[in-house]
Amino acid sequence: MYPQIRGRRLRRSEAIRRMVCETRLSADDFIYPLFVTHGVDVRREISSMPGNYQLSVDQLAPEICEIVALGIPAVILFGLPEHKDPTGSEGYARGGVVQQAVREIKRVAPELVVITDVCLCEYTDHGHCGVVDADGNVLNDPTVELLAEMAVSHACAGADLVAPSDMMDGRVGAIRAALDDEGFSETAIMSYAVKYASGFYGPFREAADSAPQFGDRRGYQMDPPNLREAIREADADLAEGADIIMVKPALAYLDVISAVAGAFSVPVAAYNVSGEFSMVKAAAEKGWIDERRVALEILTGIKRAGADMILTYHAKDAVRWLSET
Ligand code: PBG
Repeated sequence: MYPQIRGRRLRRSEAIRRMVCETRLSADDFIYPLFVTHGVDVRREISSMPGNYQLSVDQLAPEICEIVALGIPAVILFGLPEHKDPTGSEGYARGGVVQQAVREIKRVAPELVVITDVCLCEYTDHGHCGVVDADGNVLNDPTVELLAEMAVSHACAGADLVAPSDMMDGRVGAIRAALDDEGFSETAIMSYAVKYASGFYGPFREAADSAPQFGDRRGYQMDPPNLREAIREADADLAEGADIIMVKPALAYLDVISAVAGAFSVPVAAYNVSGEFSMVKAAAEKGWIDERRVALEILTGIKRAGADMILTYHAKDAVRWLSET
């Protein structure tokens, strides 16, 4: 078409490379996940996720100061209860571990955005995301009630955003209504609207001690081959009042991130999940890949696909690497 310029390339001096760069990562893109647990003086490294720890509430302050100093704007909290039971009651207890952690973080760094994962799987003794019947089927409606209670207890502790991750039908609407009723109309909802039944959550189940004791989550999570269904799920959650839509996992679903970002005008979050992180770590440990280069390449790809924010275990390292370049 334009034979005279076909194949012509800008000579890529460093300055020109910066000028034509289309996707730029910064600390502002990241949300860092934290696992909080009972006890005192607990700082237990998660073996499959090097550099990530289960922390007791008293150990949070230095971690939070580090995150704030790096300029990361937000954390998402996951809780490990002292006791698990069939309905996951520590998940919605006012003095539960996540509720305590939110208060502590807000004391140390009121400006840090605190997001809480709203799901029962870490709190139930069977490891499913809700209440189950005698045959082990997850019961949607009673579960939704408990999730709404959990979201209110997080908001009450000071959470800025609640993130329901269970995929039950109608939970976003129920959570929105409960938050509004209790005077938390300012608390926003980041919905894990598009969550696939994925093998990439493996290390998280060790980190949060939340592997299902029987069956799997395919009954309530999406099937990996489906893309149009992602749009339907996002659409439904937005109609119920979600403020931010999340796609999870990220790496094998870049087309889904792109489609969701194109279809809706709300912010899109992508979860660069535990398995995606651990693969990079393990291969780097073996000397097969350059960790820094590959991690930044993956995060750039997720942003280029259309994510406005990325939940990632690489967050702290990524900010350090970015400041060195
Ligand atoms: C559910 C939840 C999970 C993850 C985040 N929230 C586990 C699951 O859906 O089975 C996984 C995140 C990761 O793998 O990093 N509470």
